[in-house]
Amino acid sequence: MATNRTFTMIKPDAVANGHIGAILHRINAAGFRIVSMELTRLSRAEASQFYAVHAERSFFGELIDFMTSGPIVAAILEKDNAVEDFRALIGATDPTKAEPGTIRRDFAKSIEANAIHGSDSDDNARIEGQFFFGIRREYAY
Ligand code: RTP
Ligand code: MG
Repeated sequence: MATNRTFTMIKPDAVANGHIGAILHRINAAGFRIVSMELTRLSRAEASQFYAVHAERSFFGELIDFMTSGPIVAAILEKDNAVEDFRALIGATDPTKAEPGTIRRDFAKSIEANAIHGSDSDDNARIEGQFFFGIRREYAY
C-alpha cells in the first residue's frame, strides 16, 4: 500500500555541527509536514537493527560507530510522494555526487558522515517509523 509518509534521521555529524535548524527549514520549505519528531541517541543494538540490511558490508562496524557517536533527530514526514521526493531533497549517498542544492551536498562531509537518512521505500518508511515511534504515535498526529 502506498503511503504519503517517509522517515528521516538527522545524523550525528549534522547535529554536532549545529545544522538541525537549517535542515528542518529545508524540509519544511520543500513542503513536508512533521508528523512525529524526537532528539535521541541510538544504542549499538538499535543502530545494528536499523541497518541490519548492511550487516555483511565492510563498512558496517564504522557505520554503527558513527551512528552511535552522538544524538540524532528522528522524524516521520508527510507529503505527496514522500519517499521519492525526500530522497531527491537529500541527494546521493556520497555528497560529492549529490546534486547542488541537496541537503547532503550542502551539509555532508563524506559518504559515511552524510548528514541525513531517508527511507528508500514505503514499506521501509513504515518499518522505520514504527521502530522509533511505535504504531500509536506514527498514526496519531
Ligand atoms: P541512508 O540509508 O542512511 O538514507 O543512506 P542511503 O540509502 O543513501 O545509503 P545506503 O546504501 O542505505 O547506506 C546506508 C549508510 O551507510 C553508510 N555508507 N557508508 N563507506 C561506505 O562505502 C558507505 N556506504 C554507505 C552511509 O552513512 C549511508 O548513508
Ligand atoms: Mg539506505
